[in-house]
Order: sequence, then structure tokens, then C-alpha cells
Amino acid sequence: MEAKYEFGFIGTGHMGGALLRGIAQTVPADEIILSDGIPSKAQFFADELDCETGTNDDAAQAKYIVLGVKPQMLRDMLKGIYPTLSARQDRYVLISMAAGVSMDTIRSMLGLDCPVIRIMPNTAAEVGQAVIMLAHDSRVQTDEAEYVKKVLSRCGMVDEVPEHLIDAGSAVSGCGPAFVYMMIEALSDGAVACGLPRDKAMTYAAQTLKGAAILYMESGKHPGTLKDDVCSPAGSTIQGVRVLEERGMRGACIDAVIAAYEKTKELGKG
Ligand SMILES: NC(=O)c1ccc[n+]([C@@H]2O[C@H](COP(=O)([O-])OP(=O)(O)OC[C@H]3O[C@@H](n4cnc5c(N)ncnc54)[C@H](OP(=O)(O)O)[C@@H]3O)[C@@H](O)[C@H]2O)c1
Repeated sequence: MEAKYEFGFIGTGHMGGALLRGIAQTVPADEIILSDGIPSKAQFFADELDCETGTNDDAAQAKYIVLGVKPQMLRDMLKGIYPTLSARQDRYVLISMAAGVSMDTIRSMLGLDCPVIRIMPNTAAEVGQAVIMLAHDSRVQTDEAEYVKKVLSRCGMVDEVPEHLIDAGSAVSGCGPAFVYMMIEALSDGAVACGLPRDKAMTYAAQTLKGAAILYMESGKHPGTLKDDVCSPAGSTIQGVRVLEERGMRGACIDAVIAAYEKTKELGKG
């Protein structure tokens, strides 16, 4: 017996919606069903992508069920779909993106020993540039994991990792976009203070972050070496570097990631 839909999304908020757009590039629209606490949210994506909407129980009829609700909402939502899932005779796989929540916790919240793929994406999925960590155990078949990796690859880079690394990775890649946007804002504030118009300042700051990241990834050079390449002796860049060091920029970044990691662990326990 085949599942009624290939993908069911429960929760089409920021992250669920971003992943949905990527997945819909590979999975035919008529094989996707969407559900959200606020039905108009699911309907918005359904209109855009030409797929169906339904209840959480309808979405729980899919082969791959993407859980896109906040970690705090997960327990109640899983309780709600338990009767549907426990009555299923066919195979299904849950895909959870909930920060800090382990595969075992999902199974125990649900009360079923079912296959779970845990992913940790980030909002750049919206433009196909996410980092997506993915973990699963032997309850998930190899072909299922490979298929999910393939459809997620439209959303960005997919990296399979042992589950215990997900929370640490999430603190840098899941939360990281917020830190990077703060840098774009701050760098452009500086440029505005020096007289550059705001729109140019924002564009230059963002393109500089993007270009520097691509150069790092493509050159294979250490970031310290690339930084040294920009700093000419007695030049202007090294003066900026000095100020960043004096103000503790590295320490602030390290502490931001650790703080995010600790909060992720706390959310997972809740
Ligand atoms: N945002 C990120 O950058 C990011 C990154 C990595 C992972 N994540 C993970 O992604 C998940 C979703 O986060 P988000 O930022 O996308 O949150 P969000 O924007 O609030 O989206 C969650 C959606 O789920 C809906 N919902 C809540 N309870 C529901 C229920 N019982 N049944 C159906 N739908 C329900 C919410 O509707 P209401 O508005 O009515 O509550 C909302 O539309 C979380 O587990 C989070 O840890 C997020």
C-alpha cells in the first residue's frame, strides 16, 4: 500500500515554508499536502505552488511527514496525529527540524518507535543556500535517507552528521544567519557614518560577506591567511582589525555561538 502523498508538511512557517519551496522543485505539487495551525498560511503556499492543504491528520498520511512547528508545540502536535500514525499500515518517515529535540525524544513524545530523520536547516533555504545537517539511525532505510538528501539539496548544502553534532552545528548555522545580518547592518552603519548612502552601504557590506565567504570556500586557504592578504603593512585594514580585536569581536562571536548552543540544549529538554 502506497502513501497518499509523498510529502506532508505540518507547520508552514518560516522554516517549513522555506524548505517547502525547495522541495517543491523536485517533488510534484500534487504529491505534497500542507497543514498549519493558521490555515491561511498553508493556503498561501498552496496557491503559490499549486499543492493541496488539509488537516494535520491529512498531512500525517504522507510518506515523508515534515514537522515544522516550534519545539514547544511539538508534543501537543504529535499527540494530535498519534491516532492517524498508529493506525497506519504503510511505511512513513518523520522529518524533524526542531532545534534541540533528539530523534528519541520525538519518538517518545509520539509514543511510536518510528523512523525519524532529524535535520537542522537555516533560513537561506529560501534561496537554495542553506546549510542542512541531517542525521538518522537504522530505522530509516538507506534509499529513504538518500531520497530525502536529494530533495533537500535544492535548499542548499546537505551534510550527514552523527546526531550528537547537530546542536553544536545548529548554534553556528541555524542561528548564524541572525549574527551575519547584524554584521551586515553594523558594517553598513559604519560606512554610512563615513558618508556612503545607506543602500550602497548595505549592498557593499552584504556582497563583501558573500564574496569573502566564497573566496574562503573556493581557495581552501585559512581565514587567517585571507585576512592577512587584505592587511597591507601600515595600511588602513590593519587599523580596523586592531579595533575589532580591542572590542572583543572574536570573543563576542564565540560567546554568541556558545549561548545559542546552551539555549538549544535547554529548549530540547523542555
Ligand atoms: N527559523 C529558523 O531560522 C530555524 C532554523 C532551524 C530550525 N528551525 C526549526 O524550525 C521549526 C519551525 O520554526 P519556524 O521559525 O519556522 O517557526 P514558525 O515560523 O513559528 O512556524 C511554525 C508554524 O507552525 C504552526 N503551528 C504551530 N502549532 C501547530 C500545530 N499544532 N499544527 C500545525 N501547525 C502548527 C505555526 O502556526 P501559529 O503561527 O499558529 O503558531 C507556524 O505557522 C522549529 O522547530 C525550529 O526549531 C527554525
